[in-house]
Amino acid sequence: MDKILVTGGLGFIGSHTVVELQNEGYEVVIIDDLSNSSIDVLDGITAITGKMPTFEKIDLKNKLDVENFFQRHSDVKGVIHFAASKAVGESVKEPLLYYENNISTLVYILKELKKLPEASFIFSSSCTVYGQADELPITENAPVKQAESPYGNTKQIGEEIISDTCKVTPSLKAIALRYFNPVGAHESVEIGELPIGVPQNLVPFITQTAIGLREQLSVFGDDYPTPDGTCIRDYIHVVDLAKAHVIALGRLLNNKNKENYETFNLGTGTGSSVLEVVQAFEKVSGEKLNYKIVDRREGDIISAYADTKKANEELGWKTELSLDDAMRSAWKWEQKVRSK
Ligand SMILES: NC(=O)c1ccc[n+]([C@@H]2O[C@H](COP(=O)([O-])OP(=O)(O)OC[C@H]3O[C@@H](n4cnc5c(N)ncnc54)[C@H](O)[C@@H]3O)[C@@H](O)[C@H]2O)c1
Repeated sequence: MDKILVTGGLGFIGSHTVVELQNEGYEVVIIDDLSNSSIDVLDGITAITGKMPTFEKIDLKNKLDVENFFQRHSDVKGVIHFAASKAVGESVKEPLLYYENNISTLVYILKELKKLPEASFIFSSSCTVYGQADELPITENAPVKQAESPYGNTKQIGEEIISDTCKVTPSLKAIALRYFNPVGAHESVEIGELPIGVPQNLVPFITQTAIGLREQLSVFGDDYPTPDGTCIRDYIHVVDLAKAHVIALGRLLNNKNKENYETFNLGTGTGSSVLEVVQAFEKVSGEKLNYKIVDRREGDIISAYADTKKANEELGWKTELSLDDAMRSAWKWEQKVRSK
């Protein structure tokens, strides 16, 4: 089977994708610098799949190390590029850190892929590129809006860099996957999300509050123009998301792509409000969550959920797991992590 490089493969989405790649028989090589992950994740992947992927601790900001990697692994057929910094708030305070880590690493990898006779490339993009879309659900044709943060901008610039490169590089095929809101953990709870510090995202904040690590969840605003007044997002189970990567990669490797640069939304197509997520958590866990409604938070968009038609029809992929499944696995994962 083809050798696939997964950058950031010890992170949240990367680790779940490595599991699905190995389950499909791919030979996986992971690069990660452990800046936002733990080496123990390798054991989790091995426990689930029965196979330890090859791992190289490399900081992709080091151009020479990237060149050296591809000299040693010139048989790589595809790359799934997860490695990036992802904290929106931090990106506002430290924009150059984000531009350096998210843009230079992408450029160095694409430069190496250009040298190969043929290469397939999957990029982790985000629904943040749409901002507050004018129409819901959001299709891939919705205009890309002015980015709200340097982090969001790195995804927009990243997509442009890939698109421009593909235009002049027939040997390179690429897909940008625009994730909505990945949540949950592998059902084995061998791997899951490990936020360092105070979680930026709703679901780890909920589970950490329920386990007693955080005092209270703040719900930012209940006066938005939505049915219960709280913001709406499209929460997708990380295992469904991981499987979409394997399918997208297969599309490129088997030359099923229609253009050599394509974009797909990855979401469930259903929006859930913050309070609905809290209710789902309380239902599956049997725990009462301590939360309070506070003022709106600057920069939050009101509502975003995916039109999944293109991914459903072109990729032949659809989500199989529910929000309840995601909350159940996230809670099991939190309990396991804290019991260590
Ligand atoms: N989680 C989300 O909500 C979400 C939503 C949309 C898009 N994304 C994107 O998906 C990708 C994966 O996200 P995640 O949630 O799994 O994040 P994560 O932080 O868990 O994983 C990223 C991994 O990349 C590694 N990494 C970072 N910089 C590196 C470098 N210079 N060299 C080598 N390794 C490096 C980190 O150590 C980490 O293991 C990111 O590109 C992120 O921007 C995530």
